[in-house]
Amino acid sequence: ISRSECERRFLKSEAPRILVTAALPYANGKIHLGHLAGAGLPADIYVRFQRSMKRDVVFICGSDEHGVPITITAEQEKTTPQAIVDRNHALNQAAFAKLGVSYDNYSRTSLPLHHETVKEFFLSLYSAGVLKEKQEKQFFDEKANMFLPDRYVEGTCPVCQNPEARGDQCERCGTYLNPVDLIGPRSKITGATPTLRETTHLYFPLGAYQEKLQNYIDQADKRDGWKDNVLQYCGSWFREGLQDRAVTRDLSWGVKVPLKGFEQKVLYVWFDAVLGYISSTKEWSGKIGQPDRWKQYWLDESTKYVAFLGKDNVVFHCIVFPAMLMAWNEHNTARFVLPANVPANEFLNFEGQKFSKSRGWGIDVDDFLDVFPPDTLRYTLTMNLPEYRDADFYWKDFQARTNNELADILGNFVNRTLTFAHGNFGGNVPAAPRIKELFTRGPGSTDESLENEIRSAADAAGALFEQYRFKDGTLTVMNLVRFCNKYFNDLQPWKSLKNDRERCALTINLCLQ
Ligand code: 2FM
Ligand code: ZN
Repeated sequence: ISRSECERRFLKSEAPRILVTAALPYANGKIHLGHLAGAGLPADIYVRFQRSMKRDVVFICGSDEHGVPITITAEQEKTTPQAIVDRNHALNQAAFAKLGVSYDNYSRTSLPLHHETVKEFFLSLYSAGVLKEKQEKQFFDEKANMFLPDRYVEGTCPVCQNPEARGDQCERCGTYLNPVDLIGPRSKITGATPTLRETTHLYFPLGAYQEKLQNYIDQADKRDGWKDNVLQYCGSWFREGLQDRAVTRDLSWGVKVPLKGFEQKVLYVWFDAVLGYISSTKEWSGKIGQPDRWKQYWLDESTKYVAFLGKDNVVFHCIVFPAMLMAWNEHNTARFVLPANVPANEFLNFEGQKFSKSRGWGIDVDDFLDVFPPDTLRYTLTMNLPEYRDADFYWKDFQARTNNELADILGNFVNRTLTFAHGNFGGNVPAAPRIKELFTRGPGSTDESLENEIRSAADAAGALFEQYRFKDGTLTVMNLVRFCNKYFNDLQPWKSLKNDRERCALTINLCLQ
């Protein structure tokens, strides 16, 4: 990449401030390596790069503590949903910290601050007449005494006869389904045959936002270069045509719907989760003693907002969340920023198979870090990020990357350079001698080419990080280190130390740089 190309790309981030969010992991279990590869790690690299460029950036995450799976886990463990999320929130927060993911705030959606934020948002849309009431019939499990969310109804697919199709989709033939389409429906919770019951829900008119959303994504893509995989997912949703979505559920665990007649209902988990980014930023503002600081990030259109997540979350962040924010913005003077980019990753698999809690396949981050230091994991994951397609974590690869690259290339270079500076220059950076003729020029292992490499690698890595290409950016850094090792070998400072101390000082000075 040429210097001018770098500058053109670097200009992209000349926003006065950057808001970075990483998808809030569910507090229904412990985070595994796949969660890191999707959002937390690339987001952390991006944030650390922006901080090193002295940019104003805030990095937000937290636990997503609602949703049906959490209530089911609580029932299985004969405890409360709150106890489940308390445990997992603490474990996950600690795991991220141990890995060095440098969130400015790691909040949780069971906080009263979050509930208030969501209710205010909901009431604004409701009182503006955005949300529409619909009566409908839904499957009810008499045994569990609850309405069944779509994916908790199973039965035979009417299209391909798969006997294990879910109420929202048949995984075998890919058809999107309604639970009532299933042949022989049964409850996934108790196995009972569910009955249809009348219920009332509030719907968000997603369909009405389709054109605005398409324009928004087109514009944002032109400005910041969205990833192809993300554009493709959005394109296929648009081609199918956006459908209105229910934002309420007949459940007890979640943010209560603040309306008369809806006391027994909560807001749909995704409606509240995405607003968790806002409430987490508010919480951070309070903690730093500047209660209005969050507004500078969320309510100022010059903020660049980047949302990191895995591919299963794309529709919620590129379509549902922006539409919710657009709806708010149409009816309020304080207007929220929409994501400038959503650099979603594909999935990371483990030794060739999907991570699966139920099949016990994979490894949790905290267990991993009980055995290995964080940088070994960060490095291997970074070099295998599923940036364009699914990727795998293999133990063999982890071993090779740790030993042959992190230790032998980076560790070796840092170690030999520092050891040399300590042993022979009293632990100081030796001043580069001012003798012009000493500075060797031309290709190969010359002082000039090392200086050029340092500069161009920094530019190129920076440009790649700006484009959310963390694997290539890190490879660029490692290639620089490879060059440095060769320079050290070729210049042989242990020899020049004896007969040409100035030459030796210049070599070590450049290596330290
Ligand atoms: O897929 C998940 O793990 C969700 N809990 C992500 C939520 S992201 C945001 F909306 F909070
Ligand atoms: Zn099917």
